[in-house]
Amino acid sequence: MKTCTRLIITMGLLIVTGCGRKQQVTFMTGGAPHEFAFWKELCDDFEEATGVHVELVRSATQTEQRKQQIQVGLRGRKPDPDVFTMDIAWVGQFAWSEWLEPLEGYGVDASPFFRNIIELADRHNGALVGLPIFVDAGLLYYRADLLEKYGYDGPPETWTELSEMAAAVQQAERGANPDFWGFVWQGAQYEGLVCNAMEYFASAGGGFFDADGAPVVNSAPNRRALDFMRSLIHDKQVSPPNVFTDMREEEARMLFQNGSALFERNWPYAMQLHAREGSAVRNTFAIAVLPHFEGHESAATLGGWHAGVSRFSDRKEDAVEFVKYLTSYEVQKKMVLELSHSPGRTDVYADAAVAETMTGGLKDMFYSALPRPVVPYYPQVSTVLQKYLNAAIGAKMPADQALAEAQKDILQITKEYAQ
Ligand code: GLC
Repeated sequence: MKTCTRLIITMGLLIVTGCGRKQQVTFMTGGAPHEFAFWKELCDDFEEATGVHVELVRSATQTEQRKQQIQVGLRGRKPDPDVFTMDIAWVGQFAWSEWLEPLEGYGVDASPFFRNIIELADRHNGALVGLPIFVDAGLLYYRADLLEKYGYDGPPETWTELSEMAAAVQQAERGANPDFWGFVWQGAQYEGLVCNAMEYFASAGGGFFDADGAPVVNSAPNRRALDFMRSLIHDKQVSPPNVFTDMREEEARMLFQNGSALFERNWPYAMQLHAREGSAVRNTFAIAVLPHFEGHESAATLGGWHAGVSRFSDRKEDAVEFVKYLTSYEVQKKMVLELSHSPGRTDVYADAAVAETMTGGLKDMFYSALPRPVVPYYPQVSTVLQKYLNAAIGAKMPADQALAEAQKDILQITKEYAQ
């Protein structure tokens, strides 16, 4: 009603055609629970500035569930949601499905954003179909106070060092805290496990695909890395058994934040939460690059969330204006200061207030972080990997068998798509 009245006053001609149509943009996004107040405030600010109401529709925290929720509307060619956030892991599938409205015709300028990420994920057959709102890369969080207490000079450089430090500190700290663990990470059967595994595999000299995109899952470096992941839980026992049953980002984040872990693998969003009032590790945590296997280089998986506009939206102009707003310098700066999500725009990192934060120093990581393959069938490949990687780290299947089975299934998927 409010919007109709405004239309009558300001755009008399639209009265007849305008009031029957939906007078709002629907924005679907998910994420960690604390983020919603932030996105809601942005929607309200946008409405105040433009008169366009943005309805915030909350989706899940976990990436696969978020995808399912958005797909319901898109598969049915429904006008809602008009705008949504997409994991870089499934931008490819959305683009190939032709669900994304090309943005350049609406005056969207991609030049302030990470060029490598735009070219990798947001450009499809030459058209710009998304923009990175924030970018992610895997980090090692550690307790600087505990490393000092036990006489270590700094964070571990190799995975062996990590597991040795984790075992020694865990044993010593258990006296005071029986729930203390050496290392927490994402091992549940979901996309986050694939992201973690890529980091171990690449830092052993392996990987999932070769330079031509052919699957090379069953290799000696991958076997070594997967066996090491399993051993963290079952042999060295420095990672809790629930790593493979249900540990995702938030479970790992909370355990570390309660003061019950020495090391944590997580994305940049955890920095702001760890540093908040009430966090047990507020003044004692630090970040480092993830370790590597002897003789190899560290690797971080490239993650992140991209804004897209539905091809079926009936409010495309307003939807694109909202995307421009979300990716504006000011909003990206506010996002990094309040949520420690690393901006998709490169210019924001030089901002004095941003440069002072831990995120300020991360920019270079996003040029070298390891992408997952941007192919329409990546979600299927990932489902296979999730199943076998989880079986291996759960000690239900030996690492070599898990990788051999995964290779077979992935080859089948790639063959089906090649036909
Ligand atoms: C983060 C990353 C995303 C990744 C997901 C896995 O949200 O940004 O790319 O797929 O974690 O849980």
